[in-house]
Amino acid sequence: MPVVVTDNCLRCRFTECVTVCPVACFHGDETMLYVEADECIECAACVSVCPVHAIYDVIDLPDDKKQWQAINAERAPALPVIDTKQTELPTAEARRLELGFR
Ligand code: F3S
Repeated sequence: MPVVVTDNCLRCRFTECVTVCPVACFHGDETMLYVEADECIECAACVSVCPVHAIYDVIDLPDDKKQWQAINAERAPALPVIDTKQTELPTAEARRLELGFR
């Protein structure tokens, strides 16, 4: 199953995920990234590299994050591809701590 980016990415946008994606299926706005499901080859390489565990295989989405499948589907196609590492957002480290990741 394709992967989905969830709200843990918000205010982080670390972009480690794009460095391991073989097909450039990540698209982004100023706040976070989203996956274009039709482009994802389901390798799941991105899941383990996100410092804030924002990415899930669709079948592993917790109940309180299931809405992010539709949000990714709606937003990704309208946004530019992000396929190179970028500087994380200024709020990223504080957000990472807030989420309980070190
Ligand atoms: Fe977001 Fe994690 Fe990628 S914070 S940009 S899903 S590495």
